[in-house]
Amino acid sequence: MNELDQLIQAAEADFSAATEPARLEDAKARYLGKDGSLTSLLKGLGKLPADERKTAGAAINAAKARIESALAGRRDALKNAQLEAQLAAEALDVTLPGRGMTAGSLHPVTRSLERIEALFRSIGFDVADGPEIETDWHNFTALNTPENHPARSMHDTFYLLDETGKVREDVLLRTHTSPVQVRAMLAHVQNHQHLETMPELRVICPGRVYRVDSDATHSPMFHQVEGLWIGENVSFADLKGVVADFLRRFFENDDLKVRFRPSFFPFTEPSAEIDVAFMSGALEGRWLEIAGCGMVHPNVLRFGGFDPEKYTGFAFGMGPDRLAMLRYGINDLRLFFEGDLRFLSQFQ
Ligand code: DAH
Repeated sequence: MNELDQLIQAAEADFSAATEPARLEDAKARYLGKDGSLTSLLKGLGKLPADERKTAGAAINAAKARIESALAGRRDALKNAQLEAQLAAEALDVTLPGRGMTAGSLHPVTRSLERIEALFRSIGFDVADGPEIETDWHNFTALNTPENHPARSMHDTFYLLDETGKVREDVLLRTHTSPVQVRAMLAHVQNHQHLETMPELRVICPGRVYRVDSDATHSPMFHQVEGLWIGENVSFADLKGVVADFLRRFFENDDLKVRFRPSFFPFTEPSAEIDVAFMSGALEGRWLEIAGCGMVHPNVLRFGGFDPEKYTGFAFGMGPDRLAMLRYGINDLRLFFEGDLRFLSQFQ
């Protein structure tokens, strides 16, 4: 066997021994590369006498063609093997039974919000909406909380940046749903300005609010439901009656105890916190704070376009997440917002 046949055999053996593309390319370099055996043979042609050069050149080229075709064959084989391995790894068993469809369900907070809306609609309240990115004016100033008022520091929220990366002073993520009170008042006055006597304003405003806070009973995003009733003779007694009746109906518990504890909010005067106590079950006898409330401050009425000499009103802001925790016996607020199906599917 001559030298060229040996070379071809060696190349074929090397190629079949390569079991992955990178090794195959290494082997190729040994024969066909710049310093490969075949290349040096071709380079050596120049030293042969002219009459031998032609036949030797033809023989080397024929050998080169055989080595190249062996290389191409091996490349194809490796590619096919890789494809087959991938197909096998990704194989689908089409004979397996399907996963089927399971029924979705409403989030427990959504269920509570719907319940709250239905109960308030039944006593003549409308439901209003406001933006979550709120102006500083609606969130604070119009609620009788001027710049530098200490109550602003209890509402540390998420601010927004302008294009240059500076904190914007005019807008923020709302820290409560109370700004919707102001929006509802302004819209109500605007819509009824042609009437001699304005109808009462009765509205609740549910929605998401934001604060820099996170533990078992606080989450940076949570929900509130604002309530507002303005008319010519609305009193604190109305506030107590509406809220206590709502809570008893919400918890389906006529024995529910409701107490109003004096407190402070800039936008109401007088102000109170609302606590409930359960007369049975795991929470028996414990007072739990679920809302703030009060008589709307004259300054707030004025900012909303109402004449405080003629109109009075009450407002409250409650935490529907807390109401849902109490109603369903949930002890960690964060469970609501983690999206864990093991938790959520219990409310189907
Ligand atoms: N906005 C208050 C807060 O988030 C809650 C509140 C208190 C709302 C009293 C009211 C109110 O409407 O009258 O802390």
